[in-house]
Amino acid sequence: MKSLTLASGDQLPSVGMGFWKVAPADAPRVAVEAIEAGYRHLDCACDYGNEAQVGEGIRQALDSGLCKRDDLWVTSKLWNTYHAKEHVRPAVERSLKDLGLDVLDLYLIHFPIAQKFVPFEERYPPEWFYDPNADSPQIEFAKVPIAETWGAMEDLVDAGLVKNIGVCNFGTSLLRDLMNSARIAPSVLQVEMHPYLTQEKLLRFCQESGIALTAFSPLGALSYLSLNMATEQESVLKQPPVMQAAERLGRTPAQVVLRWGVQRGTAIVPKTSRRERMQENLALFDFELTDAEMNAISELNRDRRFNDPGVFCEDAFNTFCPIYE
Ligand SMILES: NC(=O)c1ccc[n+]([C@@H]2O[C@H](COP(=O)([O-])OP(=O)(O)OC[C@H]3O[C@@H](n4cnc5c(N)ncnc54)[C@H](OP(=O)(O)O)[C@@H]3O)[C@@H](O)[C@H]2O)c1
Repeated sequence: MKSLTLASGDQLPSVGMGFWKVAPADAPRVAVEAIEAGYRHLDCACDYGNEAQVGEGIRQALDSGLCKRDDLWVTSKLWNTYHAKEHVRPAVERSLKDLGLDVLDLYLIHFPIAQKFVPFEERYPPEWFYDPNADSPQIEFAKVPIAETWGAMEDLVDAGLVKNIGVCNFGTSLLRDLMNSARIAPSVLQVEMHPYLTQEKLLRFCQESGIALTAFSPLGALSYLSLNMATEQESVLKQPPVMQAAERLGRTPAQVVLRWGVQRGTAIVPKTSRRERMQENLALFDFELTDAEMNAISELNRDRRFNDPGVFCEDAFNTFCPIYE
């Protein structure tokens, strides 16, 4: 397994298993089967509502000797309702308890969006609505600057609760501002990235700033079909440059798209609940795309963002919440 070297010197495995939308009932099995298949990087979050079940799978894998804790890279993410400095440590402690771990390898701010606090006893995970039972439920925001949240994230490193800290869904302006005030620079940026959203400038900025980039939704539209946030026609897997490379290499179109992701220097965290696809999505290191194939796939870019709070927060949560414009 290839890895990316973070500012701390730690090695982030280039392919991780994503756990968004893994049903809680499936999560212990998916975690065990992923570790069995060779995954050593698990991408979790409070908001995925399955950390306790992923933790159960990790415990089973460790108990049965599939791997040691130190062989695993476990990431979790701070949810939007916990941005105020006094809520950050309880939030990571809850994720650690659910995952059955003493320390996280990486803790990320999930979105640059601060929402009003919801206590654990009231709802966990709190998700987007402040009060889902209100007459017209909405997202309610909190006035917490990113620098305050980041200071509390840095304290988690000092306290030995997390080894590395980073952010998700930030653009270059927010990253610049964060780096200007940070005592510990963000080591990872996790953003949506696939051949329809190549974000060349963001990737270059991160590479020049010593920030490792992890691509989420690396297969593009697939994750968003069931949410009605993408259409079948938007699948990159059927595009000629992808199919031609797959044909030449005797690989699947999904492997070509994932290989494109790791070959351009990003980590990727594809999600699958199916054992056979776990193997498929990991078998990316015994073949290479030519420069011409890499370029042809990159040229598919259409700046298509499937996971855009500026769209889905209004559609699903009655609240206009753009962050990229
Ligand atoms: N930081 C953030 O804000 C954020 C946002 C979104 C996602 N993420 C992270 O990124 C991870 C991956 O993103 P994602 O889950 O949105 O999308 P993805 O991994 O690009 O795609 C997942 C979808 O593709 C299918 N699939 C997986 N492997 C396949 C293959 N080889 N051939 C054909 N279909 C395949 C899966 O179905 P099956 O399960 O049925 O195989 C699932 O429907 C998430 O799980 C999460 O950990 C982070």
